[in-house]
Amino acid sequence: MSIERAKRQYQSFPGSQYILPSDIIERDRLALQHRVLKQALENQLIRPPVSLNAGDRILDSGTGSGTWLLDIIEMVSPDVILICIDIEPRLFPTTCPQVISRGKVDFSVCSITKLPADWSESFAFINQRLLIAALRTEEWKEAFEEMHRTLLPGGWVQLGEIGTLKCGPVTEKYQSLLRALFSFRGLDLDCVMHIPLLLKDTGFTNISVKKHSIPLGRWAGEMGIEARDNFIGAYVGMKDAILSAGGFGFVKTEVELDALHLALEKEWDETEGSIIEYVVFCAQKCTL
Ligand SMILES: C[S@@+](CC[C@H](N)C(=O)[O-])C[C@H]1O[C@@H](n2cnc3c(N)ncnc32)[C@H](O)[C@@H]1O
Repeated sequence: MSIERAKRQYQSFPGSQYILPSDIIERDRLALQHRVLKQALENQLIRPPVSLNAGDRILDSGTGSGTWLLDIIEMVSPDVILICIDIEPRLFPTTCPQVISRGKVDFSVCSITKLPADWSESFAFINQRLLIAALRTEEWKEAFEEMHRTLLPGGWVQLGEIGTLKCGPVTEKYQSLLRALFSFRGLDLDCVMHIPLLLKDTGFTNISVKKHSIPLGRWAGEMGIEARDNFIGAYVGMKDAILSAGGFGFVKTEVELDALHLALEKEWDETEGSIIEYVVFCAQKCTL
């Protein structure tokens, strides 16, 4: 799992605190992550009771390599328009045959915290998955205000974020390290706890929260191994952010951080019941 820091590529969007890379290794991890989440969600990639008709527009915020988009592309009518945004275009799946043959898929570089002024009341549905390592505390509020502004009355938003990790002492230590990193960057490691109230305060209604437990480690068979490799892969992607900030008193060198990742992996493998929570939120913009 040791990957030299120098080889990773990161985004450079002005003001962004996003700590994960945007490169080929990350693209492969996002594909693995999508498989893990899809299984945890029992294939339910669109949860709100949204009915999509010809001409309706869907926004996928923070689309990355488009893992979610490429999966739902066949599920929605070819006359639905798919708009994808990300602060970093490197992984956009613009050359994927499904995207090219379908048409009506648009990619643009843009932050969810500041959508174009002329997108007001234009989307029937907004999906956003895993911006926990990207949005600063105040940016969550801005993002929800932008989602609310750009949704049609009665439109739905669906969010998926990572919650608590449950395992043992190494996991606890790693969570403390993550907490220090997130706080240093102004990010919100506990965003799943704050999202419902933020949605309510923004004016959303019909807010629902569903928690999914994803087993981590060898004890849980193939799914546990895939989930383990995905989340350790995400932590490896944060190496640059951890080490460039001095390791927060938990590690000093890359060798020490690699050793911590190996210990984490071992703890998950050997501790039956190790899980990570994935939380799905749905909310609706009032019709009036
Ligand atoms: C962990 S990836 C998840 C990608 C995709 N949603 C998925 O589930 O496969 C987070 C993505 O959010 C993007 N991102 C970060 N900050 C953003 C922002 N302010 N607005 C839009 N996208 C952002 C990143 O560039 C990255 O592609």
